Parts: sequence; C-alpha cells; structure tokens
Amino acid sequence: MSQNSGLRIAVLSGLLTLLVGGSLSLAYSSGALFSSEPQSGLVAQSSLHHDDAQSQPSKVNAAEDKAQSASSQVQTPDPAPEPEPTYTPIPVEKVDCAVQKCVALTFDDGPHQDITPRILDTLRETKTLATFFQLGRQMEGNEAILQRAKAEGHVLGTHTWDHPQLPLLNDGDMRWQMDAPKDQSKKITGEQPTLIRPPYGLFNDAVIAHAAQSNDAVIMWDVDTEDWKNKDPQETTRRAVDGAHRGAIILLHDVHPSTADALPMIIQELRAQGYTLVTIPQLLGDTPAGSIHYSGALDE
Ligand code: NI
Repeated sequence: MSQNSGLRIAVLSGLLTLLVGGSLSLAYSSGALFSSEPQSGLVAQSSLHHDDAQSQPSKVNAAEDKAQSASSQVQTPDPAPEPEPTYTPIPVEKVDCAVQKCVALTFDDGPHQDITPRILDTLRETKTLATFFQLGRQMEGNEAILQRAKAEGHVLGTHTWDHPQLPLLNDGDMRWQMDAPKDQSKKITGEQPTLIRPPYGLFNDAVIAHAAQSNDAVIMWDVDTEDWKNKDPQETTRRAVDGAHRGAIILLHDVHPSTADALPMIIQELRAQGYTLVTIPQLLGDTPAGSIHYSGALDE
C-alpha cells in the first residue's frame, strides 16, 4: 500500500516536472514576455503635474494653496497623452544586393516594451535597417513601438498571434494565427505585412497554401545566432559574424537584453567585413505569396 502510494507520488512528480519543463522550453520566445510592470509614463506625468502646480505664481493665499495641493493629490493624472515623438526615416544609401555583399538582420517575437526600443535605438545610431517578425499578442500596448519601427524605415512582418506550432493546429486556428496579426499590424501602422515567419520554423503544405492565400511570403533564416539559448552578447555576436555570408538571413530575437547588448558589435563586425545590412525586401526583392526563402540565394 505505502509502496504503491510512493510510486504514485513519484509518477505524479515526474509528470509535473515534465509539464513544467515542457512549458519552460516553449516559453523562451513566447511566454514570459508579458510584464505587469507599471507604466512609467503615468508616474512621470503625475509628478510633472505636481511641479506645474508648484511653479504657479503664489497669488493665492495659504488656505487656497493648501486646498489646491490637496485637490492635486487626489486628482487623477491629466488624461491628455504626452506629445508623441515624431520619428523620421533612418537615412540609408541606395542598395543593390546584386553588387553589394548584403545580409539581413531579422528580429522575432517582439515587440517587447523595453528591448525593442533599445534595438531600434542601436539601429538608428548605426543607420541600419532591419526586419521584425512580430507576435500579434505583443502588439497590444506596444503600438508606439510598431509605429516607430515603421516610420524609421524598418520592415514589419508577422510571427503568428502567440507563437504556436502551426502544423499542430486545426485549419481554422492555423488561419487565425496567421491572419490576425496582419490585421492588427495594419490597424496600428496602416500597412498590412506580407512577410511571415512561422514559429520554430515549422510549416506544412497547409501553412504554405494559406500563406499564398493571405499574400504572405514565408521567410526562414540560414544563420541562427541562438541568442535565446546562449543569452551571451559575445557568443551571439560570434555566431552572427561567423555564420554570415553573402545573402544571409540572420535570426535574432528582440526580447533578450543580451541580444540588445550584442547588436552594436554585430553591426560593427559585419560592416568591418564588408557587409551591407539590409531589410528582407531589399535582400530578396519581390517575394511572391506562398514562396519560401531561407536566404538571398545569390551566386557568389
Ligand atoms: Ni519565435
């Protein structure tokens, strides 16, 4: 009896380990992205409001002053949004990948509220354009990041709604996962993406057929930095640079601090080797709906 229940506990805890381990291994790029951190904008806004109140000329008497400061304490922050920063296209030179040694940097699983802006800052500072394959789920609350990326000249593709293994889904779910982020991105940026990267690089004939119907080209990669695994800026950089070749599509994720740390080195070292960093449309030119691309296959 006790042996039996001991066995049962062992089996149960084994199962639990399996479940926890399993969900963890899948979570690297999709789970754990949601953050419930408070929006710092609110704090900044309310302290700004307070400063404004204090800098008013002191014509009011002490009692009024007191009343005013009391009311400003209970007042909710001004609902008027802070003025939107305006973004301008990153100035880049005209590119001809038939002549130049082009590689494309691609970022999956964002937008991330902290990491993607860091990536965008580096891209702007280094005058680099890139391609982002974004999750529909991540777009909510990060609209300004999409708008910034678009305005600066980057290319936005999709990466499904919440990172499932597409071939495991029924037809309806598969279609929704592929289409909903396109619509969401269009709502936010005014332009519907036409490039999709299937999560884990997993697709089957049904996925390709639906991509063709939905006006999506399927963009894979041929240089995997494994940034999600090594989480090490040096190793991520080494894999990007060692793997690079003319026409390469380099896979990165704009959700890891280590990737944001690596990016300046990756860009610097690739340029030192004579590479021109381009977007997927610059690298591949026209990509018909339903076509599949691992690299810009050019004769060296
Ligand atoms: Ni992914």
